[in-house]
Amino acid sequence: MNQLQEIARKLIDDNKGILAADESLKTMTKRLAAVGVESTLENRSLWRQIMVETEGIENYISGIILYDETLRHPLPNGKMISDILKVKGILIGIKTDEGTYKFNEGEETFTLGLDRLETRYKEYKLMGAVFAKWRAVYKVGKSFPSKTVLVANAIGLAQYALMTQRAGLMPIVEPEVLVLEGDHNIEVSEKATEEVLETVFEWLTKFKVDLSGILLKPNMVLAGKNNSHQPLIEEIVNRTIKVFRETVPPEVPGIVFLSGGLGPEEATTYLKEMNHRYKNKVPWRLSFSYGRALQQEALKAWSGKPENVKEAQKLFFERCQKVSAACS
Ligand code: G3H
Repeated sequence: MNQLQEIARKLIDDNKGILAADESLKTMTKRLAAVGVESTLENRSLWRQIMVETEGIENYISGIILYDETLRHPLPNGKMISDILKVKGILIGIKTDEGTYKFNEGEETFTLGLDRLETRYKEYKLMGAVFAKWRAVYKVGKSFPSKTVLVANAIGLAQYALMTQRAGLMPIVEPEVLVLEGDHNIEVSEKATEEVLETVFEWLTKFKVDLSGILLKPNMVLAGKNNSHQPLIEEIVNRTIKVFRETVPPEVPGIVFLSGGLGPEEATTYLKEMNHRYKNKVPWRLSFSYGRALQQEALKAWSGKPENVKEAQKLFFERCQKVSAACS
């Protein structure tokens, strides 16, 4: 097994998964505002410190994806986050994309950030990062995703994956179809997700990315939240796996889902059902790389108050435990 395969395996073995704590400044500001907390560097770091200091999370969390500022600055306790994670045996990941660029009359986006990637990787490696993440976003709708966005984002993901592997880091490839946004039915999401994944793997292959040294971070196949017919869990799970069977090569070691706006309970139940029905029947490990679904309950409980830290850590620990159990 080469080094990249080893990192990928460590991230998905033993029913463990990944915490996505890599919210950009803008996104983190939104999340903190929702619980009445001002978005200062101190508060953003404090929230991340509360999560990583939660005792025992290393039994469920194998890796954490960080945002540049969290890796770069000491936490409020004076320690570097990388030192805390190393002691816990949690692998360090870094978000490398630098947001999105609007085109198609502002309707669709492609992802920015390739320009300085090689230089940034030299620094991130020194800071302890061993894996990376790049997110491309796709809208679902009558004329979305367009052929142009499919190709533009697939090439971006392929270039990123190639450069990441060459730098010695394991790339998480994240093509996120915003399936919950809108009133479309589940068939529309299925078709969009299939087109996206097909194009992504076509370009990963063309760029000769080693598929055994990546993890895929996709959405589940869901109906738009404003559609009057909400599918049953079996349908969600079956359609999601059907799409993967048609598009994801067996060399890919693992699929780590994003939560994409699903609540913590839904994200946990869907993953559990996915593993219940398909574990050992598909070539890839089915695990998680959740942001909101892992953090939401705890962040709300904390709401910026020191007296709530214990309760927040309790809820965070319990959610990590439940999502990990959903992989078993
Ligand atoms: O890029 C998105 C995050 O890594 C995952 O966040 O689970 O809240 O969708 P989410």
